Amino acid sequence: MSTRPRLTLIAAVSEDGFISRGQGVPWDLPRDRLHFRAATAGKWLLIGRRTYEEMLGWFRDHTPLVLTRDPAFVPPIGKAVSSVPQALDLAAAARVDEIYVCGGSAAYHLALPHADHLLVTHVSTRLGTGVAFPKIETPPWRLVSSIEHPADAENALSMRFAEYQRA
Ligand SMILES: NC(=O)c1ccc[n+]([C@@H]2O[C@H](COP(=O)([O-])OP(=O)(O)OC[C@H]3O[C@@H](n4cnc5c(N)ncnc54)[C@H](OP(=O)(O)O)[C@@H]3O)[C@@H](O)[C@H]2O)c1
Repeated sequence: MSTRPRLTLIAAVSEDGFISRGQGVPWDLPRDRLHFRAATAGKWLLIGRRTYEEMLGWFRDHTPLVLTRDPAFVPPIGKAVSSVPQALDLAAAARVDEIYVCGGSAAYHLALPHADHLLVTHVSTRLGTGVAFPKIETPPWRLVSSIEHPADAENALSMRFAEYQRA
């Protein structure tokens, strides 16, 4: 019998809880892109249809599952799914042990109740308004590691790479 894959959310979030001003990622942080690429290389991903369209051209060795309500939507790369449980079932049937949820806000909100693990880059800026990441409540979430990265010549903002496990 196949076991349920681990579900990890990976996101970069402002101090006031936003991931975007509405279109695209609102900062240019090569260090965070490196972190994202390293974590997700070769993985199955679960992505909302809006973010998927922003990321097209980026996928290499990834298997994207695209969350959509549109039964006619056929993604050029990967597969369409209509729910988080359907994504978990597909991955389990393929004996995949982990899925990374890569946003956006709708996908994060739908996936958080099913998630085991969060990789959150806390970016030291405030957006004031925008598209929100769900609140990380403690409990059930427990911070298990936190690594600071100061601003530097390539990264105008400092960031903190945090990892949370479900308690
Ligand atoms: N900072 C970060 O780490 C980060 C990461 C990723 C994305 N982002 C940003 O997040 C923003 C996009 O977020 P978003 O919330 O607008 O869009 P999204 O989560 O990427 O995609 C939304 C789409 O998901 C589908 N969907 C929503 N609820 C559903 C449900 N209950 N069942 C099935 N499908 C459902 C719908 O697709 P259909 O319309 O096809 O039905 C909906 O249009 C962008 O600005 C992006 O740049 C930031």
